[in-house]
Amino acid sequence: MKVLGIYGSPRRKGNTAVLLDQFLKGAQAAGAQTESIHAIDLKISPCIECNDCLKTGECSIKDEMTEVYPKLLSADLVVLAAPIFFYNIPAQAKVLVDRVQALWSRKYILKKKPPNGHRRGFFISAAGTKGERVFDGAILTVKYFFDAIGVKYDGELVFRRIGTKGEIEKHPDALPQAFETGQALVKKMQS
Ligand SMILES: Cc1cc2nc3c(=O)[nH]c(=O)nc-3n(C[C@H](O)[C@H](O)[C@H](O)COP(=O)(O)O)c2cc1C
Repeated sequence: MKVLGIYGSPRRKGNTAVLLDQFLKGAQAAGAQTESIHAIDLKISPCIECNDCLKTGECSIKDEMTEVYPKLLSADLVVLAAPIFFYNIPAQAKVLVDRVQALWSRKYILKKKPPNGHRRGFFISAAGTKGERVFDGAILTVKYFFDAIGVKYDGELVFRRIGTKGEIEKHPDALPQAFETGQALVKKMQS
């Protein structure tokens, strides 16, 4: 089983990165092979809505996103870890999400089925405030991102009132929770 972790925060080794590290360790403990990409390291231009992909299913922009498409299409489990910035995911992650418009076009306009239907997606997030609806916007975006790449939304692990760098490490059980969630999800998918 292949697990792709996407680090979506502009802050290296920040709260969501620490959570994703643990999730991937849990996935490895359950026997999965893991690979990761860091949105901040990718040189990806934003979608320009040229609409070429509606006809071709391919993105007209040739940049480092070209290497990301096959990873998104071949992973059994895609895990996006991104904090909340103004009630959504940060721009660095959103650029990547918008560029899957090419895969959305393949699926919904060109009616090309994405690879096997048993693939899953999982979302990890953290937010500085305690707002009840603070994750709503991001969850909706991530659900449609996963739908476009052909993975079923399996759920999320989110933490409120986590702001400063490293704060997640002081949380009483966030790290073991992330590890156990990764381990349990891989085990569930293998059974
Ligand atoms: C530009 C910006 C916008 C933010 N917007 C929100 C927000 O709308 N709601 C919230 O609760 N926290 C917000 N935060 C706080 C982050 O979600 C929080 O610091 C989080 O722990 C960062 O995770 P990271 O360390 O993985 O980057 C914002 C932070 C920044 C820098």
